[in-house]
Amino acid sequence: CLQNVDKLLLRGIGTNVVSAQAEATRKEETDEKVGHRSFYAVQVERQEQAERSVLISCPFRVNEKRFHKYLLNHGDINKFFFYESHSVYAVVEFASRESVTSLLEAVAIPIVSDESVVPFKSRLLSLRNLGAVESPNQPVKQCQPQTTIPINELIQRLSKEESIDQQINSLTEAYQLTEENSRLRFLVCSLLKDIAAAYFPECTIKPFGSSVNGFGKLGCDLDMFLDLGGISGYSPKSGLSLEYGMKRANSERAVTQSILSVIGECVEQFGAGCVGVQKILNARCPLVRFAHQPSGFQCDLTSNNRVAMKSTELLYLYGELDPRVRYLVFTVRCWARTHGITSSIPGAWITNFSLTLMVLFFLQRRSPPIIPTLDYLRDLAGPADKNVIEGNDCTFVSDFSKIQVESNKETLEQLLFEFFEFYATFPFSRMSINIRKGKEQNKPERTPLHIQNPFETSLNVSKNVNSTQLERFVALCQESSWLFQQSETNTRRCNGTPIPWGLATLLLPSQVAGIKSRRKRKREPATERIKSLLESLKNKKLSRAETSSAG
Ligand code: CTP
Ligand code: MG
Repeated sequence: CLQNVDKLLLRGIGTNVVSAQAEATRKEETDEKVGHRSFYAVQVERQEQAERSVLISCPFRVNEKRFHKYLLNHGDINKFFFYESHSVYAVVEFASRESVTSLLEAVAIPIVSDESVVPFKSRLLSLRNLGAVESPNQPVKQCQPQTTIPINELIQRLSKEESIDQQINSLTEAYQLTEENSRLRFLVCSLLKDIAAAYFPECTIKPFGSSVNGFGKLGCDLDMFLDLGGISGYSPKSGLSLEYGMKRANSERAVTQSILSVIGECVEQFGAGCVGVQKILNARCPLVRFAHQPSGFQCDLTSNNRVAMKSTELLYLYGELDPRVRYLVFTVRCWARTHGITSSIPGAWITNFSLTLMVLFFLQRRSPPIIPTLDYLRDLAGPADKNVIEGNDCTFVSDFSKIQVESNKETLEQLLFEFFEFYATFPFSRMSINIRKGKEQNKPERTPLHIQNPFETSLNVSKNVNSTQLERFVALCQESSWLFQQSETNTRRCNGTPIPWGLATLLLPSQVAGIKSRRKRKREPATERIKSLLESLKNKKLSRAETSSAG
């Protein structure tokens, strides 16, 4: 059985991926003519890179040259980088899958003295140095950052910029996923696929959500979709034919629950580095949640979740249509997180997904619109784009060259200000946000915030949001739009130490954290808030200096 698992691990990518690749190449040719790569093409390329990669935990001081040479014995390397998470890890992408096979043939089973190991082989490896002792003078390796900079550092960085547009650029640069982090996300999916492939050799595990929609921030969770759609059989034309004997269940949901339950158990029992496994099978969308320690990712594994894959593709498309989309989404997401409008803990908060739809809706409402409506994208779709999932029409155009965008010249600064103005006065009590129509619609239900799910149109993606959280959002939009209009906010003042200005001011602690108290209290001027932040930065520096001199 172990040998079988081994074979599965080393097998080439499934036929579904191969044919998908041909399809992707065709699509890619059209998209690249207009300077875009389709979501599909990017996914296939990254998945394929991940299949040729291994993840290796390394001693902190390792002779990089020697290690590299050792790996080259197994074949050419396309990409090789280190990162730190608990310990140092190397991601190694070989030029061919045969090199991974060759490398794995030379991997030993760990010998542990007072414990036992589950002999499940994977592409998560550990580098050991037998015999020769590494020199203690080995330089510490250059590690690729996998987390964002702290907010105070971001505020300082933004304060040095010359314009608000540059600040928005700088924030996005600091927060967006790096090339390396993106590769690591696909590699973790690929490692997980090896576990699931022990039962379903034709399966794939694909990342979705912010890992791939273009709006992911370093450190965001890794949403994964176990795709069994590639499992196919022979299609009989006539005469005698055979069918697989297959277990039946009452519903798709029951099948998904049983599959996730078993895969979740495997991840928990056999998955090296997978800890804190929780099976949340009764949720609307059943999932297995766990932490993948070597990458530091919080993972959510789902199955039968094709609609979410389509909404990921839609968000990616909107982000590619105009660069201002991504800049604005990053800025609004960062602003919301700083003020506790969004949170990593589930609750009555607005989620990043809802917030992104709010930004998209706002951009559709500009005059002229910056991005088109979803109905327009559906009308442009060709026959190959037709996609109906469980009765939900998820059709929209995938060929970027067909999409006409109107010429709107607004700057990022204008747009950010207008975003706050727009939602500071939006009629939330009566109207629903609808990116399909690009126009607010009458609210079909009495929830405080109603944002129509773009594909499952009877659902409200912000159903969880309570009135307190919505009021906080509106109050913060009012405050930020007010701050924007103060000349002290918008002028760069810098003699020596840069003073927070522009976007940096909007990220300072707010005065409207508690709405009720705000109604009674008079607003402190922005200068007071800036002074208090500088004071806190100074104190932090002092205490850091004290700690290091004590050490
Ligand atoms: N999704 C959805 N409907 C919802 C919630 C989520 O279709 N009510 C889909 C969206 O495609 C979303 C993805 O599931 O992007 C993942 O959800 P989530 O992790 O909550 O959002 P992210 O966009 O990944 O943002 P974050 O960085 O906060 O994880
Ligand atoms: Mg997510």
